[in-house]
Formats: sequence, C-alpha cells, structure tokens
Amino acid sequence: MTSLWIKNAAQLVTVAGNKKPRTKSEMSELGLIEDGSVFIQDGEIVAVGTTAELESHFADTDAEVVDATGRLVTPGLVDPHTHLPYGGSREREFEMRLEGATYMEIMNAGGGIHATTRMTREATEDELVEQAKKRLDSFLAHGVTTVEGKSGYGLNVETELKQLRAMKRLAAEHPVDVVPTFMGAHAVPTDYKGRENDYVEYVVNDMIPTVANEKLAVFNDVFCEMGVFTPEQSERILEAGKKYGLIPKIHADEIESYGGAELAARVGAISAEHLLKASDQGVADMAKAGVIACLLPATALYLREEAAKGRAMVDAGVAVAISTDCNPGSSPTTSMPLVMNLACISMRLTPAEALVAATYNAACAIKMEDKVGSLEVGKQGDIVMWNVKNYQELQYLFGENHVGSVWKKGVKVVG
Ligand code: NIG
Ligand code: FE
Repeated sequence: MTSLWIKNAAQLVTVAGNKKPRTKSEMSELGLIEDGSVFIQDGEIVAVGTTAELESHFADTDAEVVDATGRLVTPGLVDPHTHLPYGGSREREFEMRLEGATYMEIMNAGGGIHATTRMTREATEDELVEQAKKRLDSFLAHGVTTVEGKSGYGLNVETELKQLRAMKRLAAEHPVDVVPTFMGAHAVPTDYKGRENDYVEYVVNDMIPTVANEKLAVFNDVFCEMGVFTPEQSERILEAGKKYGLIPKIHADEIESYGGAELAARVGAISAEHLLKASDQGVADMAKAGVIACLLPATALYLREEAAKGRAMVDAGVAVAISTDCNPGSSPTTSMPLVMNLACISMRLTPAEALVAATYNAACAIKMEDKVGSLEVGKQGDIVMWNVKNYQELQYLFGENHVGSVWKKGVKVVG
C-alpha cells in the first residue's frame, strides 16, 4: 500500500460538501482549512482535516510525508473544454488578425478550423498522440489533472474517429484524465459548401452512430454560430446524439447573439460554452434548466473581444465553470492559472469563485464530479501544492505559473 500525507498547508482548499453544480453564494465557499492535511492511500483520499486532527489518526504511519508549510494546497484543476488532438499550428492567422482580418473571415476563406482540419487529416494517429501528449504535459505543469478533449478537426468519419481514438490512447498512456467529446459539427467542411444540410445528415446518420457504437465519446458538441450551424441544425444534431446516449454540449453565442443559450436550455445540454453574446433571456433559461456556463476568458482576450458577463451570470443563478478552450486558433494556451486570473480581471469573478469554477464546477461540466474537483474522502488524490500562501495570492499574482508540485492519484507527476 502506498500512502502520501500532505500536511501543514497554510490553506487547504477542499471545495467539499457538494450535491450539484454550485451557484450564487455556494460558488465562494471553498471549504478552507487552515493548517490543513490530506492523506491518500493507493491513489484515493482517505482523510482530510486539520494537521492536528490527522496527527491523532496517522501518528505511526509510514506514509511519504510532504510538508506544505506556508503553501496553498488545492484540488487538481479541471479543464472542461479543450480541442486537444489536432495537427499543425496557425501562428500566421494570429498575425493576420492583428493586421485586421476577423476570425470568421479567415475561416470563410478556407483557413481557421478548415486549415487545422487539413493538417489533422494529414497527421497519423501516432502523430496526434505525440503532439497532444506535449500539450497534456503542459497542462499538468499548470496544475491541470483532468481535461475534456474534443474531436472536430476531422469533419469526416475517418478523421473524427482518428482523433477520438487518439484521445482514448492519451487517456490510457498519460497521467491526465481525458474525457472525450465528439464534435463532428465543428464546421461545415469545404467540400459540403452550399450543401450544409447534407453535412448535418451525414453527422446524424453516419458519424454519431459510429462514434456511439465504438463508445468513443461521452458528449456531443456543436458550433452553433451564424455562418456555421443554425440553431435548427444544431438542435437536430444534439437530439440525434441524445438518442445514442451522447450528452449535449454547445458552443453558443460566441460571435453573434444567435439563440445558442436558449437552445442549450431547450435540449438540456450539460453545458453551454463561450456565451460572449448570450441574451439575458438565454442566461435566465440556462439558470432555470441548470445548464452550466463554461466561460472561456482567454479566448475572448485572444480574439480581442469583450469577455462573457461572468459576474452577471453568477448573480443570475447560473453555475459557472471556466476553461482554456485550448485550440490552435482562438486560444492556444494550456494555462488554467491564467484563465483563473482572467476570470477575475475580465469577468469580475471573485478569487474564490474562479477557483470553484476551475475545480468542482468544471468537473460537473464533464460529469467527473464523483472522482475529481474537490478534496473529499473517496475521491482521486489529484492535488496541487502552489508556491503561494493563500488563494487570493494565486489570483492576484497574475500571468505566472505558481505550481510547486502536482500529484495524480497520489503519485507525484510535477515538482
Ligand atoms: O472554441 N469556436 C469554435 N471553435 C473553437 C476554435 C477552433 C479553432 O479556431 O480552431 C473555439 O474557440
Ligand atoms: Fe471551443
């Protein structure tokens, strides 16, 4: 039996005591223990409390002891929205946008998602795995121990399956947990231009049944946006996925207000993503239906757009999660600490809310809350020890990586 005891933490943030995604004032409750301790046996948390409390139970332990004096200790961060496996990169588009081109202009001219689709079709499964492993290493180095990953750069059965199989291998071969999402409806491929509904039928009749039969995805995501998929087409794809047990997610109201938030509530999506231009009605519908808002402030910054109204969404009773949206076009970053900083700076979440949004609520957005997202008995020993003394300092000293050490299932993977 291998045991690990992290003790004497200046602040142990547990985010404990959850029943459902956190809303309103629950989003600031950190379950904070001063002079905290957490004890892990065979990868699982078996005790959490003050160091004094655990001393009485584990006085004679032969566990490896880590002294976290003066440090903040939190659950491993969860990134609930990444476009993890893809080929190539798109640095020239970054330059083009700074020269004045818009994201949609580049995409409509065959760049953007289409450019990455070409490069992903050309890559072998092994190459996708190798490149994504480097991204996962970087996630770990930034304190992220669980990610969701999307396909969506194949846009044909063969390449969508290649991306999803790459993620299955990544989940098995890399310490970071990878939860797969099918996103065949990420764009209408260029060879279907003018035949958009034919592509929708291809997604519904060919892609979804194949992906579901091979059990390669948990979620089904659609880019519902003017010039990509209409709300009607998105609804058709999400409802079709539901029949095969794929849980809906939706890229909604990123560039235009387009009824995406309303649609997320109508189809019972687990989460709606982006939401920069979500209507007040859409936000109210999401709060009522219990749809998690997965907000991506690094994407907004990178596209030089105003961030989503995170503060107003929390106040309206929406459970908010945050994510990098790691992808080669609109957010090429793996830094969840930066995303937490931005959640505070550009969306006015409090430091505590940003931490809950990056841990427990993020876990809820990918149905991983029984295993990760908080430090509670029975959960995985996924833990970060930070080189800061409290959670406020973590959000205050921005744009830096304060990760000291990371444990995944009780095994040290960083530091
Ligand atoms: O979430 N908005 C759509 N999809 C991605 C970007 C994909 C890309 O540009 O390659 C996003 O931002
Ligand atoms: Fe995305």
